[in-house]
Amino acid sequence: MNALQKEILSLKEKKHAVILAHNYQRPEIQDIADFIGDSIELCRKARATEAQIIVFCGVDFMAQSAVILNPDKKVLIPSKGALCPMAQMLPPDYLKLWQEKYPGVPSVLYVNTLGEAKALCDVCCTSANAVKVVEKIPSEKILFGPDSHLAAYVAKKTGKEIIPVPPRGYCPAHVLFEAEDLLALKKRYPEAVLMVHPECPMEALEVADFVGSTSQMCRFAQETKAKTLLVGTEIGLIYRLKKENPDKEFIPAYPEAVCTAMKANTLEKLYLALKEERYEVALPQETIEQAQKSLEKMVEVVK
Ligand code: 13P
Ligand code: SF4
Repeated sequence: MNALQKEILSLKEKKHAVILAHNYQRPEIQDIADFIGDSIELCRKARATEAQIIVFCGVDFMAQSAVILNPDKKVLIPSKGALCPMAQMLPPDYLKLWQEKYPGVPSVLYVNTLGEAKALCDVCCTSANAVKVVEKIPSEKILFGPDSHLAAYVAKKTGKEIIPVPPRGYCPAHVLFEAEDLLALKKRYPEAVLMVHPECPMEALEVADFVGSTSQMCRFAQETKAKTLLVGTEIGLIYRLKKENPDKEFIPAYPEAVCTAMKANTLEKLYLALKEERYEVALPQETIEQAQKSLEKMVEVVK
């Protein structure tokens, strides 16, 4: 552990804070986090913590979810630059337009949305539970946003009519995965298994051996007998995979799949976040109250 990491941990103790980190965070942050996980696990931890300060090492929509679930706590995000581009693709007014176009059709929003959009939907979901959430909704037609690729995956799995809003929303890191490249990689490593995140295009999902959220991939990696795994998601996950499975080999399926928003958080910024209690994430009270219903409903549905 380096001096800055030690300093962060002692500040954290002094301030009774907790550090939550997403699976894509930089290794030096993962190493000192109290908890590392995928979006749903981080929601659960944020909901359960006793700490008065939550330092959220992830992106804006995740820190906002922590605020929505803990309006009385102080939620800090180390970098103002940790803005998920996919979440920006669904402005609340645009969602309203589609809701007016399809009256009575329920809206399911991926947690990768801004708090103001969450406040307008019926229920939220994450990549780990999107299929289950949509299955539970008593409607054969559903508005789903902002990821059109996850929407296509959910449509295939549930057989329901899923209307993607916006029609071409995407994650800039996951859209890079091409079926042709993945097949070439499988040919080069015939003994390997391929794990792919459901934010990837359908053609990539079709050639995968396993499709799941980042933490579901971590569990699959531990359970599979395969010794070599091809990793079809943001490359940050590989650090955790290697740490938990030192006897296995992990090969990035696309080494340039980097989420710059996730990497905006650095150890230095984490230190300053704790020291100066910056940057506090806030939302209007009305938004919190409405978005809370959609998030709590998700947690309830998949219990
Ligand atoms: P999960 O960790 O929930 O799979 O989400 C991945 C992601 O892209 C978060 O932005
Ligand atoms: Fe957003 Fe994609 Fe980064 Fe996740 S990986 S935070 S969806 S840009």
